[in-house]
Amino acid sequence: MARTKLAVLISGRGSNLQSLIDAATRPDYPAEISLVISNRPKAKGLERAAAANIPQYVIDHKDFQTREDFDAALGDCLRLAKVDYVCLAGFMRMLTTDFVNDWRGRLINIHPSLLPAFKGLAVHERMIDAGVKLAGCTVHFVSPEMDSGPIIGQAAVPVLPGDTADSLAARILEQEHRLYPACVALIAGKKARLSGGVVSFDPDVSFDGALSNPPAGS
Ligand code: GAR
Repeated sequence: MARTKLAVLISGRGSNLQSLIDAATRPDYPAEISLVISNRPKAKGLERAAAANIPQYVIDHKDFQTREDFDAALGDCLRLAKVDYVCLAGFMRMLTTDFVNDWRGRLINIHPSLLPAFKGLAVHERMIDAGVKLAGCTVHFVSPEMDSGPIIGQAAVPVLPGDTADSLAARILEQEHRLYPACVALIAGKKARLSGGVVSFDPDVSFDGALSNPPAGS
């Protein structure tokens, strides 16, 4: 069966891109990455795409007068590549409502918090300052509002005594690298779908038990 075609949009390091690249090397993975687009010419992730022989494009937001113009260029590039889904992987630009509506149901994002809590930037600092005991990451379909939209999957990790923003970010990132390829596989493999504003799963998709911090019963 033909594999689902993905575009991955990045702005920087590209470690989530790498997790998708690695997953897509498996012959049974239901999706392949057709192209990588960065809005920053120096994004490290472009090197990862090059190393994997994936076509890379830079669409530098600084070359455009307006967000609308930038998004139009992005849309043209994606349409030419005929991709099925667009995965945002550390793509740090707000997309216009028109763009998001054009790609509604085909635009997926990963965010390093258990949404709808802690949208936006500096999430790890804010979680530590708020004293939350569970943190995590979310993969979701994108709605026009920042870091919003129907949730495909979430992974939770404990916040440990003495954690810094960096140590917490590293613990969450490890889960991001597992969760993003898993969620994309469910969507691309048609085992999960968006209907009526929520994501539902085939009955044979299995789920793990609860994570409690401190452990329940202690
Ligand atoms: C990741 O932690 C991702 O969840 C976050 O940016 C980082 C990118 O890292 N995305 C957001 O905060 C989106 N609101 P990466 O470039 O190594 O994948």
